[in-house]
Amino acid sequence: MTEAILLVGGKGTRLRPLTVHTPKPMVPAAGVPFLTHQLVRARAAGVEHVVFATSYLAEVFEPHFGDGSALGLHLEYVTEEEPLGTGGALRNVAARLHSAPGDPVLVFNGDILTGLDIGALVATHRTSGADVSLHLTRVPDPRAFGLVPTDADGRVTAFLEKPQTPEEIVTDQINAGAYVFTRSVLDTIPDGRPVSVERETFPGLLADGAHLQGMVDSTYWLDLGTPHAFVRGSADLVLGRAPSPAVPGRRGEHLVLDGARVAPDAKLTGGTTVGAGAEVGPGARVEGSILLDGAVVGPGAVVRDSLVGAGARVGARSVLDGAVIGDGAVVGVDNELRAGIRIWCDARIPAGSVRFSADVA
Ligand code: GTP
Repeated sequence: MTEAILLVGGKGTRLRPLTVHTPKPMVPAAGVPFLTHQLVRARAAGVEHVVFATSYLAEVFEPHFGDGSALGLHLEYVTEEEPLGTGGALRNVAARLHSAPGDPVLVFNGDILTGLDIGALVATHRTSGADVSLHLTRVPDPRAFGLVPTDADGRVTAFLEKPQTPEEIVTDQINAGAYVFTRSVLDTIPDGRPVSVERETFPGLLADGAHLQGMVDSTYWLDLGTPHAFVRGSADLVLGRAPSPAVPGRRGEHLVLDGARVAPDAKLTGGTTVGAGAEVGPGARVEGSILLDGAVVGPGAVVRDSLVGAGARVGARSVLDGAVIGDGAVVGVDNELRAGIRIWCDARIPAGSVRFSADVA
């Protein structure tokens, strides 16, 4: 039996205000809490037992997923009293694993959307005899990431944090947030204090001569840590560019959940999701966006690459482009919100009070 640990305890600060009431892995993407996509893909790869490492807003996971039987999984939940970081969280849940010391244990960050061949990562781990195997992905601009160069056999040679100069960019391979640990290695992580798996555990293991194996898998990969990426990932799921058996409907330009009301002449394109009980008024256009449950988009409004939170309202003729509207917020009529703007939960933007000027430095 393959087991997995899901790291879902982060505060998700980059995704605020979406993460004010909801932990990042539970924010809906393509109509279901994001985590559902990861769980269903793990199950399809043969995982049966999953332990959630929770901390921030820990109480919301279990009421939604329960014991996991609806997904064919056995789920357990472990909550940190104080956040222990990614490595400390692994050590904190290790006692719940059933695996023997030499068995492989999967670990997933709770905010990665990927088509990774999970079975191939486990197979790589077994055949290479590694202590830890890491999914690596290639990105065009690796400067914002930790680089993971490998040798000709795929063995990790270094962990390089956020390179600045061109000479430091020795590879375009980055840590993609999915690992296989030999179980006994998890038990060596220090107990009871915060530990970063990326900054402490992996470099420490390498320095001690452990075998860390990289597997470059270049299928779909996106870190959903920012609003822009989250909205993009959801749209890619709806469009069918990102693989998930958990999307509740057919792939296409839009996904409209039960109980939503969309005016006949409204246009929904680019992988837009309209949540349960949400409304889209006459003549409105919604492109590549997420409207969460109960959100309302007024007549003639234009919503592009944006997220409108649960119960939030966008007034008639308003334009949103790359905007995030927090749960319960109200954007009055005739506003123009662009370029990464975030409206906090329950805020009120009066009619016609925000305009955008491209000339602002
Ligand atoms: P930001 O605050 O926006 O950076 O997001 P984050 O808090 O989720 O941090 P990051 O994206 O670096 O975390 C990677 C993964 O580890 C995510 O799935 C987090 O939920 C998880 N994680 C981060 N810190 C902790 C922690 O202290 N405990 C647990 N259990 N999980 C964590």
